[in-house]
Amino acid sequence: MNRSRIVVGISGATGTAYGVRLLQRLREAGVETHLVATPAGVLNAHHELGLDRKALEALADKVYAVGEIGAAIASGSFDTQAMVVAPCSMRTLAAIAHGLSDNLLTRAADVTLKERRRLLLMVRETPLNLAHLRNMTAVTEMGGVIFPPLPAFYHRPQTLDEAVAESVERVLALLGVGNASPRVWQGL
Ligand SMILES: Cc1cc2nc3c(=O)[nH]c(=O)nc-3n(C[C@H](O)[C@H](O)[C@H](O)COP(=O)(O)O)c2cc1C
Repeated sequence: MNRSRIVVGISGATGTAYGVRLLQRLREAGVETHLVATPAGVLNAHHELGLDRKALEALADKVYAVGEIGAAIASGSFDTQAMVVAPCSMRTLAAIAHGLSDNLLTRAADVTLKERRRLLLMVRETPLNLAHLRNMTAVTEMGGVIFPPLPAFYHRPQTLDEAVAESVERVLALLGVGNASPRVWQGL
């Protein structure tokens, strides 16, 4: 059986820690990761985490430039299980919602939707304007999952890292990744 493959997109919303944590956990799970980060995503990873492009790319098995529109993940014939955009900016959300495929990240998302594979967008913006809300609705109507990484306070996270890790575990669970360990509410 082929090793499972997941495409990870990192765009320029704040919260690049989600993408980094996701790549680390997918590696632990033995999933083959294919990374495409936008220039704003790379900028934010450096600003927020002190990671340069090389350090970010070292977390993935395969790495593509955002302009590399002829890459394998631009075609539905290249078999992948799912794609997660972590974090997903409102610009990237808009491009996906309208099928623009204006770079490799949005093309890979377009392919994921057309092949009826799972697409999760860890969208991050607040407050939301009507364009943001409509674009999230459009992606939902196409079968994508809008997953804003909102912390569950009932688990009483003590650090930002804990809150980030918990959101990522829930994403892994939605993807059906074997080692996902989201905290389960046992009732009061
Ligand atoms: C430090 C920083 C934080 C940002 N945070 C957000 C955000 O949370 N959500 C968002 O939609 N855009 C945010 N932006 C703006 C995007 O980076 C910008 O719209 C960019 O064009 C997105 O391009 P991309 O979708 O190709 O990554 C932020 C920009 C910077 C520099």
